[in-house]
Amino acid sequence: MIELQEINKVYRTNKSSVSAVDDVSLHIKKGEIYGIVGYSGAGKSTLLRCINLLERPTSGDVFIDNTNITTLPTKELRKARQSIGMIFQGFHLVSSKTAAENIAFSLKVAGVPIPKRNERVKELLELVGLADKADHYPTQLSGGQMQRVSIARALANNPKVLLSDEATSALDPSTTKSILELLKKINKELGVTIVLITHEMEVVKDICHRCAVMQDGKIVEEGKTYDVFANPQNDLTKKFIDTVLQFTIPKELLDACTGTIIKLQFQGMIANESIVSDMLQAYPVSGNILHGKVEYIRDEPLGIFIMELTGDKKHVDDAISYLEKRMEQVEVIQHGSTH
Ligand SMILES: Nc1ncnc2c1ncn2[C@@H]1O[C@H](COP(=O)(O)OP(=O)(O)O)[C@@H](O)[C@H]1O
Ligand SMILES: [Mg+2]
Repeated sequence: MIELQEINKVYRTNKSSVSAVDDVSLHIKKGEIYGIVGYSGAGKSTLLRCINLLERPTSGDVFIDNTNITTLPTKELRKARQSIGMIFQGFHLVSSKTAAENIAFSLKVAGVPIPKRNERVKELLELVGLADKADHYPTQLSGGQMQRVSIARALANNPKVLLSDEATSALDPSTTKSILELLKKINKELGVTIVLITHEMEVVKDICHRCAVMQDGKIVEEGKTYDVFANPQNDLTKKFIDTVLQFTIPKELLDACTGTIIKLQFQGMIANESIVSDMLQAYPVSGNILHGKVEYIRDEPLGIFIMELTGDKKHVDDAISYLEKRMEQVEVIQHGSTH
């Protein structure tokens, strides 16, 4: 659906040059929600803007549905752009126009006749849950409502792709959730492919099927969101995931523990609880749960247990080997101090 091939973007000023996007190749599949996460300055906005050529890559090709849009003449590029909607952190609404007029404007630009425009605006306002706000001006709307208007505007001409540049970053957590739910609904019901960039891993966790982590213009890790969360490879990815999962045990607590501390991770919770109790029955060790939590990555559960095992060193080692045989991930965080 979207194929980025060896995209580079260099910004040159008199004295220096910045490599904002550095040799990025990505394939985004039709119908998926794809997240790109990274700190400020990583090159996310530049990369996103290369997808609709708001920013011309210094080199590289952008294919949308197998058409290389970097080679299209202006008129055809304008047409291709209509199949790509975009939303922003700052909404970019026209303050002198009502919600309905803001949405109607993109239909006007696309040459849709007035009666059809009005009908479509009504449909779109309903889709985003703002049927009663048609005549409100942006200043009369909340942040979440403004973002809904801008989503309706972006969808006006039935795009195949929606690009989202930090669309929820200016919103409070509960409004963020409701906008993410709306994006999920648009993806599911209208089949719109969504590429979103964010500095919040929480957003990726809630709605992205797949994701990439970006640093210094490069993609440093990429994969199915669940796999990235369950088994991150890159240090930056781990840091982002920690902001969501927060399984760090306070140092004071670790210092007070004399046993071996292990972290168990599994897909789902219930089935695996029996593995832990089987282990405690099979080996003469005792287990003390320090932390237990199930996180949902989109809709799939990821369970994490942190426990302290105490007992004879050999028995503790045997118990850990037993767990390793039966579970996906067992990690010793701290070895016991008394043995
Ligand atoms: N128009 C521009 N001119 C010069 N440098 C730019 C321009 N836009 C972005 N940059 C630089 O490119 C890098 C990536 O920026 P950006 O894509 O906005 O990152 P992000 O969206 O991840 O915060 C930064 O170092 C930024 O300063
Ligand atoms: Mg940005």
